[in-house]
Amino acid sequence: MIRRMKGTYDITDDIGYYKAIEKQIERVSKLFNFKEIRTPHFEARELFHRSVGEDTDIVSKETYDFEDRGGRINTLRPEGTAGIVRAFNENKLYASNISPQKYYYYGSMFRYERPQKGRFREFRQFGAESFGSNHPSMDAEIIAYAATLLKALKIKDITVHLNSLGDKTSKANFEKALKAHFQPHLDSLCKDCKNRYEENPLRILDCKVDKNHESMQSAPKTVDYLTDADKAHFESVQAYLKSANIDVVVDHNLVRGLDYYTHTVFEIKVSEDLLGSQNAICGGGRYNNLVETLDGPPTPAVGFAFGVERLVVALKENDYPLSEDYLHVYVLVMGEQARLNAAWLIQRMRMGGLMVDTDYTERSMKAQFKQSANHNARFVAIIGDKEVEEGALNLKDQQLNTEERVSFNDLYVTIVDKLTQKRSDCQDCDYKGESQ
Ligand code: HAM
Repeated sequence: MIRRMKGTYDITDDIGYYKAIEKQIERVSKLFNFKEIRTPHFEARELFHRSVGEDTDIVSKETYDFEDRGGRINTLRPEGTAGIVRAFNENKLYASNISPQKYYYYGSMFRYERPQKGRFREFRQFGAESFGSNHPSMDAEIIAYAATLLKALKIKDITVHLNSLGDKTSKANFEKALKAHFQPHLDSLCKDCKNRYEENPLRILDCKVDKNHESMQSAPKTVDYLTDADKAHFESVQAYLKSANIDVVVDHNLVRGLDYYTHTVFEIKVSEDLLGSQNAICGGGRYNNLVETLDGPPTPAVGFAFGVERLVVALKENDYPLSEDYLHVYVLVMGEQARLNAAWLIQRMRMGGLMVDTDYTERSMKAQFKQSANHNARFVAIIGDKEVEEGALNLKDQQLNTEERVSFNDLYVTIVDKLTQKRSDCQDCDYKGESQ
């Protein structure tokens, strides 16, 4: 038997959780006035090298690259931001009369990582990107948007970790301080960190191998190297978050694993009990230079991405209530003529907005009844030869436990009528109530 590839999985029983998340993403995105954008699953390899960064783990170790039949080097997207920025520039979205332009996206990303709980090689992200505002209120809005989704999904015990890297000058000052700090420890740092020291010292703080190295605790803090303007921006973001009632902790070691960030960076974490070391369910920040780096006009931007699989774990752990699957009608059929008549009755009901199913395998009546219960059908309609002759059938209401004879012609309106009827003696009258 051919099996699925390592680090991938099939969504079967958990589909309800994904649907619930997708529904809230759509709802909350509307509240924040973000519009959906969809971009390709593969892009030119160069895009990720120029944006996410040559020496990031994602690009240097984890991309799925392939040459197509035309000799082009493609990469399966490891994250969404680079592709959205490419689309923003290529489609001249910056010319829109709406500003800032706020987009959200949902879809698969691919990273060749070591699979473990909450970490896959194909995983889904829900992300958002806002282009055109450098105002601290926009950074805060992005974080509020992420926090509101978590609230809508009833995910509690979250911590928002916040830091600022500042812009080029602040970052350059900080990198200089980092190099001075790590220089005496270089021999005892891992091979990757030795390279990072030369190429991109900020990455040392993000190292998974050396994270408990003695030199890490005493490393310089980004905030001490921010220019006055960058410091003011960071303080203002915190003030806006406070005003929106969103608690954050300032985390001086948070630098994020991608190169394009400037100023605000953040991560939202759930408890380690839930997801072990993969407990970051959302990460994001400002990236004011990326649009220009990818040949667009200078455009400040800020965004985030959630790991959807990690949200699913949190939902399951919290017993998030899923809506039950059900049918309006299950049609029981006995005999070929009955099946033919049922076919047009079923089609008519479906065209009228009813959720209907029937038997397709010539099962016994008993087995068909069992199926109707498995499908959680409110009504059961029974058609045999006699019913075809009479043009009428028995309709059982499984919720009210009643049965009546209904003509084929009246079947649809009778069902709709019953579905929309509010009964004063029915505690559960909304259950399976709507017909559209
Ligand atoms: P990221 O931190 O690399 O940021 O990924 C965002 C989230 O995706 C993580 O917090 C995590 O929940 C999830 N994630 C990452 N890798 C995996 C994996 N292998 N398996 C399951 N989930 C995973 C970005 O991707 C940035 N593009 C976020 C952003 C948008 N920054 C600005 N705009």
